[in-house]
Amino acid sequence: MTDDTHADRRRRAAARLRDADADGLVCFPSRNLQYLTGFDEEPGERHFLLAVPAAAHGDDAATLLVPALYETQVREETTVAAVRTWADGEDPVAATRDLLADLGLREGRLLVDDTMWATFTQDLRAAAPDVTWGLASEVLADLRIRKDDAELTALREAAKAADATVRDLRELGADAVGMSERELADWIGDRLAAHGGTGVSFGTIVGGGPNGAKPHHGHGDREIRAGEPVVLDFGTRVDGYPSDQTRTLVFDGDPPPAYERVHEAVREAQAAAVDAVEPGVTAAAVDHAARGVIEAAGYGDAFVHRTGHGVGLDVHEEPYIVAGNDRELEPGMVFSVEPGVYLDGQFGCRIEDLVVVTADGCERLNDTDRGWR
Ligand code: GLY
Ligand code: MN
Ligand code: MN
Repeated sequence: MTDDTHADRRRRAAARLRDADADGLVCFPSRNLQYLTGFDEEPGERHFLLAVPAAAHGDDAATLLVPALYETQVREETTVAAVRTWADGEDPVAATRDLLADLGLREGRLLVDDTMWATFTQDLRAAAPDVTWGLASEVLADLRIRKDDAELTALREAAKAADATVRDLRELGADAVGMSERELADWIGDRLAAHGGTGVSFGTIVGGGPNGAKPHHGHGDREIRAGEPVVLDFGTRVDGYPSDQTRTLVFDGDPPPAYERVHEAVREAQAAAVDAVEPGVTAAAVDHAARGVIEAAGYGDAFVHRTGHGVGLDVHEEPYIVAGNDRELEPGMVFSVEPGVYLDGQFGCRIEDLVVVTADGCERLNDTDRGWR
């Protein structure tokens, strides 16, 4: 990402605020703040705010208000020219009020970060009692939804690390039997790092047998058993961008008889949905393509979630590939295609890859074997 990337994003956000009938936006440590500044920080109890006033295209009047202990970091790591600080022992609400006043943001309509903690939205209300409020996603979701070349490069690399880890899992084979879900999740984390990833992009899911029937099971102490399908859903980050991939594997022995039919249906559903992806097609149509296959196989009621979600700095973001979403796909959008079938008390089966919409279809970011062995 070049030095100009974040400043350009701030300028585009500032220009779009007027169209959204808003006078400014305020972020706190979040993926939105990271998108606009490059600064990646966990939210904390100290007031850390980015205010972006609406502006004609070309202006970057964004201002950071940060705890004094962060000053050197944000000056070194961001291109935001206006950085204000408040020190421990000073009143951050007064500093917030001054920030809004100096940027002309104590009246009109302001958009706040969708994930902003209530403690900060309450302080913003106190600092600007006459303002009406909306959400930053009104402007930022549409900016973030199409990925630029640098973002796509990072997403491809993160996907490659996940692919390589799937290949490692297949090689592990019968040696996985007897490991606990937790041990296998840790093993996956190590392999993702060995393949160039940084950390895990979300809590690794290792769902053996009936645990796999809970789509977001996480991992526990249950041991991996022969003949049991195991839902393996994981990802890592490269240059801040995540992967998110699922394979459902049987490490040893033969799975229950129904499993092969279920797996085949899920695999066909995933292929049908990926085939449906091209510019101009709606997100709902991609969901419908996957759902139709699973319904025809008799498992419609067991496909209990949407077909996919956008992936960017957030692992779940727009566009959501779900019934009712008439948003048309555009080149540069990246999302998961992850149909699944979940049979309570028995097993789950999900196959998930990421795709990027291209000029005439899509490119799969993941390309490892989708079989269950
Ligand atoms: N893993 C499916 C979803 O969250 O939509
Ligand atoms: Mn996933
Ligand atoms: Mn996913």
